[in-house]
Amino acid sequence: MIRPIVKFGVAGLQAPSQPVVEFDTALHTLIDDMIETMYAAPGIGLAAPQIGVPLQVCVIDLSIGKRGGQVITLVNPEFVEREGLQLEEEGCLSVPGLQATVPRSERAVVTGRDRDGLPITIEGHGLLARALQHELDHLDGRLFLDRLRGIQRDVIVRRIRKQQRQGAW
Ligand code: NI
Repeated sequence: MIRPIVKFGVAGLQAPSQPVVEFDTALHTLIDDMIETMYAAPGIGLAAPQIGVPLQVCVIDLSIGKRGGQVITLVNPEFVEREGLQLEEEGCLSVPGLQATVPRSERAVVTGRDRDGLPITIEGHGLLARALQHELDHLDGRLFLDRLRGIQRDVIVRRIRKQQRQGAW
């Protein structure tokens, strides 16, 4: 089931998520819905708080479902390594239509659990490393805006506020 994606301004989006304890059918339904919602958007990543669920779950698929078996599901993820630097434009399904150049590590290694609770490790360079950092930020209640310098962030927040005043957000 496709679920509505919450946008910047909804309080839950900027609160830390809770670890998953039960790897049950409710979790599997949540994950399936997140994947379907990500593909429909379309986007390359989605975190549970973006559909209003405060749990440490995120999904990533750089192919947006075009190549089978590419989807990564991460439950209770954490970084074990980050190195290097990349500067690329980044956007977010919860901040539609607005992008900014965000500094991220070039390489990232994350450990966590899969949908069945089995331990997994994901290593990413470039775009995958960026997606991992973006989605794990969501689980800490952090948006890409929060990685920008004051003035860059203010410009984006002003644009959002303007759209909110116009009822277009
Ligand atoms: Ni995002």
